[in-house]
Amino acid sequence: MTQDEMKRQAAEAALDYVQGGVVGVGTGSTVNHFIDFLAQVKGRIEGAVSSSEASTQRLRARGIAVFDLNSVGSLSLYVDGADEANHRLELIKGGGGALTREKIVAAASDRFVCIADESKLVEVLGRFPLPVEVIPMARSYVARELVKLGGTPVWRENFVTDNGNVILDVAGLAIHQPKELEQRVNNIPGVVTVGLFALRPADRLILGSQSGARQVEAMAV
Ligand code: A5P
Repeated sequence: MTQDEMKRQAAEAALDYVQGGVVGVGTGSTVNHFIDFLAQVKGRIEGAVSSSEASTQRLRARGIAVFDLNSVGSLSLYVDGADEANHRLELIKGGGGALTREKIVAAASDRFVCIADESKLVEVLGRFPLPVEVIPMARSYVARELVKLGGTPVWRENFVTDNGNVILDVAGLAIHQPKELEQRVNNIPGVVTVGLFALRPADRLILGSQSGARQVEAMAV
């Protein structure tokens, strides 16, 4: 089975969590599969809140209404992918650059179901370079501060987020204390969002694998 087939399998399994109402929808290739499955049950839901322009387009193209988060209040369910997940269901996200809106929708949701192929599960976060969304004028300053934290930031050139900002991808971090690092990076002036989802981790992880989709619950610490 290919990696894409495993993503598709995880996306299909997430449909079990869809109870109706308005569903929070993330961004990325795994979520694209989820949107396609959601379209098959669109009569059961009112619509979606989207975390990116790309997902909004895909949802609308499949006849699913997209609502502004401000008009719906809190959501019962958010479904999104990840670039890495550990056993506490803390995540690195933002490979697609949608981390800020993803973090907002995740925060506004009662339950966050993360969908991924099994290669995303790691012991220690950080092999995947950590995306950080930054106000453009602060790019160099923030990069210097990230070096002080032990990382190697690389400017994602020719990329502008949906919010008009830039991304620094920080390589070389072995993230043993994700909550602490999330707070420290968030506190650097000019940082909009760090792609660590540890203060608000996923509640459930569905991993597509060679032997079928399996559900992972957060391991107690
Ligand atoms: C988007 O900004 C990311 O957070 C995605 O959720 C993440 O990159 C996972 O993407 P794939 O589903 O394409 O692997």
